[in-house]
Amino acid sequence: MRKVLYPGSFDPVTTGHEDIIVRACALFDEVIVGVLYNPHKASGAFSIEERLALLRAVTAPFPNIRVKAFGGLLVDAVRACGADAVIRGLRTMADADVEVQMARLNRQMGQVETLLIPATPAVSHVSATMAREIGRFGGNLTGLVPESIRRQVAETLAKQQ
Ligand code: PNS
Repeated sequence: MRKVLYPGSFDPVTTGHEDIIVRACALFDEVIVGVLYNPHKASGAFSIEERLALLRAVTAPFPNIRVKAFGGLLVDAVRACGADAVIRGLRTMADADVEVQMARLNRQMGQVETLLIPATPAVSHVSATMAREIGRFGGNLTGLVPESIRRQVAETLAKQQ
């Protein structure tokens, strides 16, 4: 049984993340979506519990997905959940620069292999940072976050102006 960890901040989960999650599901027996957080850093727009709840709502139709939070290093999260590899999405070549460096560091630190998967073009411009900014100014989040959570995300962000 092949298990993959899809790590990220997911603050909040976007349609870009959803694209990678769905594709990872078709490739692996089990996908663990890991909300990685730094216990020493201030929380983001959504608390860890809120991020987990949003992810669980979005991934509910998929029986082979688990959603979990991990504090600390990615290599430790991989070990803790028994994943065979990590999967990350690439939106742009700028992403590739950062992701390849992280993949090499994680391989060096923990013998962890990372699979980089190019984003579907229709969502390759989507980022959680932009979704947060647009949502805080009351903009339309259609197509930026999954439809099933759009209203909830918009309401939380609108309170943060
Ligand atoms: O969604 P993001 O913010 O692009 O995800 C980045 C994340 C959480 C995957 C990355 O920052 C990470 O792996 N953090 C855990 C700490 C760690 O292992 N840092 C060293 C990476 S080489």
